[in-house]
Amino acid sequence: MNLEMVLFKYFYQNFINMTFEALKPQVEDIIKRNTTTLDERLLEICKLLEECITYYNWVGFYFKNGDKNELKLGPYVGEPTDHTIIPFGKGICGQVAVSNKNFVVPDVAAQDNYIACSITVKAEIVIPIFKNGENIGQIDIDSNTPDPFTEDDERFLEFVCTQVSTILM
Ligand code: SME
Repeated sequence: MNLEMVLFKYFYQNFINMTFEALKPQVEDIIKRNTTTLDERLLEICKLLEECITYYNWVGFYFKNGDKNELKLGPYVGEPTDHTIIPFGKGICGQVAVSNKNFVVPDVAAQDNYIACSITVKAEIVIPIFKNGENIGQIDIDSNTPDPFTEDDERFLEFVCTQVSTILM
């Protein structure tokens, strides 16, 4: 990498981090709006993230479907997906449902256990949501940019998931 690229990456990452910091109070405001339903607030969060972070192209929530070992699609923004139900263990989302760990995929084409939603998607990040220590859902983000996610995305999205867990039953 030449010096120009190093500087560009440095300033770009600083810009992204400033954006994350600016988004945090906006996420908190949406969470506190108790005049709107849970799904309306989750959809607002999806819209905010998709609009403000250029490389977040599909943003959605999946939640454990009752007592079944499967995930059910909740509010999302982006292209409609056929994958409204995902069995535990299947795809990136299903793996996070059993691993309880963040899953960052820089290149979806390099994954065997991956469920494709759109041919434009190059990368994906899934962060679990815990309520009383139990993994009850996740935020899932697809990107049309290859390898865009850093640890700063993970920290920011963990913040979002912690906020969301406060309004879940
Ligand atoms: N790619 C995901 C499926 C959900 S879509 O991205 C909306 C997966 O492999 O689990």
